[in-house]
Amino acid sequence: MKKISIAIDGPASSGKSTLAKILAKDYGYIYIDTGSMYRALTYMALKEKVDVNNEKDLDELLKKITITLKQGKNGQQILVNEQEVTDEIRIPDVTNNVSTVSAHKKVRVTMVKLQKSYGEHGGVVMDGRDIGTVVLPNAQVKIFLVASVLERAKRRFKENQSKGILTDFDTLKDEIKRRDFLDSNRKVSPLVQAKNAVLLDTTGLNIAEVVSEIKKIVNEKRKDF
Ligand code: DC
Repeated sequence: MKKISIAIDGPASSGKSTLAKILAKDYGYIYIDTGSMYRALTYMALKEKVDVNNEKDLDELLKKITITLKQGKNGQQILVNEQEVTDEIRIPDVTNNVSTVSAHKKVRVTMVKLQKSYGEHGGVVMDGRDIGTVVLPNAQVKIFLVASVLERAKRRFKENQSKGILTDFDTLKDEIKRRDFLDSNRKVSPLVQAKNAVLLDTTGLNIAEVVSEIKKIVNEKRKDF
């Protein structure tokens, strides 16, 4: 069967990466977490004291560094200049600045070029905010995942707890709302559902239920190939 491209978009903590990883594993596809790429740049900017509001400086920094996604024993690893930063890019300081960094046009142009090159041969599950609209507009399957703010805050809280990151629940909820607002209202490639994407509301659904829904859609499409 020919390999297709699967684009999964949606707001923060809607379950994109969990689902994308499962689908990629089950189909033997490559998984690309595009959010981790914006996070890697944000991490480097904070480390190198590059102003996150300065588009030009950020783009120069991005062009100087190499961001690599690698399949490790415990899942996908992200490397900047050959150094692993998989855990570092999840710290609250990065999370709170990444929407600002990813809103810059120059940054997005460079990032999208790289992401398109990963997806050009199919056999890929890519998650993000603009995959179905900009990065892989010809993806055979496009899913737009949503869930209530409360449900997403609960998921993030649990995830943080399991990683030993202590966070206040109400603060998490506010941060999710703030990122939703920034990601959906930025001028360049805002978070919107692609016209031909299937909307899936995961509030109250468990992972197995959502995987099964998506697989029905994917399997239908794969038959045409
Ligand atoms: O999925 P995530 O929370 O790791 O993404 C981090 C940020 O990166 C998110 O706030 C918006 C941005 N992002 C983006 O603008 N475009 C993408 N394709 C992926 C992520």
